[in-house]
Amino acid sequence: MVSSDPTPRISNRISGLTADGLTRLLSEGHESGALDLAVGIPSAPATPPALINAAHRALDEGIHQYEAQAGNIRLREWLASTFRTPADPRTELTITAGATEAFFSALMAVSNPGQEVVIFEPVFEHFINVTILCGCNPKVIRLDPPKWTYNETDLEAAVGPNTCAVVISTPNNPTGHMSTAEELEHLAKLCARWNCAIISDEVYSQFTFDERRHISPGDMPQLKSRSLVVGSFSKSHAISGWRLGFLRAPAALTTAARKVHNSATAGTAAPLQAAFARAAATVKGFVTPSDNLRVQRDRSIKMLGEVGLRCFEPDGGCYFMADIDKLPYENADAFAAHLLQDAGITIAPGRFFYSGSGDAGRRLVRVAFNRSQSFLDEVERRLRKFVPRSCPPRSLVQTGAHLTTDIHESVLG
Ligand SMILES: Cc1ncc(COP(=O)(O)O)c(C=O)c1O
Repeated sequence: MVSSDPTPRISNRISGLTADGLTRLLSEGHESGALDLAVGIPSAPATPPALINAAHRALDEGIHQYEAQAGNIRLREWLASTFRTPADPRTELTITAGATEAFFSALMAVSNPGQEVVIFEPVFEHFINVTILCGCNPKVIRLDPPKWTYNETDLEAAVGPNTCAVVISTPNNPTGHMSTAEELEHLAKLCARWNCAIISDEVYSQFTFDERRHISPGDMPQLKSRSLVVGSFSKSHAISGWRLGFLRAPAALTTAARKVHNSATAGTAAPLQAAFARAAATVKGFVTPSDNLRVQRDRSIKMLGEVGLRCFEPDGGCYFMADIDKLPYENADAFAAHLLQDAGITIAPGRFFYSGSGDAGRRLVRVAFNRSQSFLDEVERRLRKFVPRSCPPRSLVQTGAHLTTDIHESVLG
């Protein structure tokens, strides 16, 4: 029998994935010349010139062919030297197509369809999407502002015999919370009791403030053997388009994850890996983003606080969450729409970071502050003229309505 439908069937898994709302918000904003505080595409710190030069050189030198699938060994050797406790560059590190792929390879390696993945919410949406792609079910633990802590009893009830992995993001996107030693000790006990993995997204590990110390499960004796650490150079070096990230895991887990990595990508761009390895080996102080970012953080909190937002100060990362409780809007979408229309500034409505269609996140926004000072000067100029209004004009209500219809949308960065 011949089917009359010209389109082949689409996988059922895809229908569970979220679409591209914030990206659309950003492109609409771009078209109208808006300033983006919504998405984490870096403009500060700036891309190191040494990296750009090294990339030119790598291409001129003829590095155009396949690299070892696990990644450029010199890059792995340098990377191994950056961790608090040593990692074996040959057996414990893999260079991936960004943290995005590292997370995918990690979860694929430790999960079976039908298992549960424990995640904390508000959440970086990729965690949910990959969980669904793996055929697993997200088990959501709610974090509460201002410190974004969780209820220990809830977590103990969520982790069990069917849990394959617990996922954390530290410093966290979107809240900026950094996992504490106590939280990680608690997780270590639960993961050991139920023999599950911990996947730790540490994309913002160098973005820490006020002398707070980033703690990686990969450096903790009680978690190391079951930890898969996801990292990236996208934000730390402002090269999100280069697609360079990594996975750090003990040898057995690395062997498993590399099988996924090899099948999915066969490795990432050879000249860019070579360029990064060379620049990293030769440039002193190659990675120092947090000094600048602290200034941007404090400035952004002050500016948005003056508009009436209650901002929750982040310990690390390049985002913070804020609530609109003191402002005369029905929800954060209406505020975001008004801010876009009147001030030409995009901000991310909080619901992008919550699964399900309830009220969670409806009065929250996320602000990305990895922006240059001159960019923030212009934000400040526009915010000074912005007056929150209880009854936005009709066109704004329509934009707000458009924002609220797409409940399942994703967040870049
Ligand atoms: C927590 C987190 N993980 C992963 C990523 C993706 O990183 P990459 O560009 O390395 O794929 C981002 C990007 O914003 C992120 O915020």
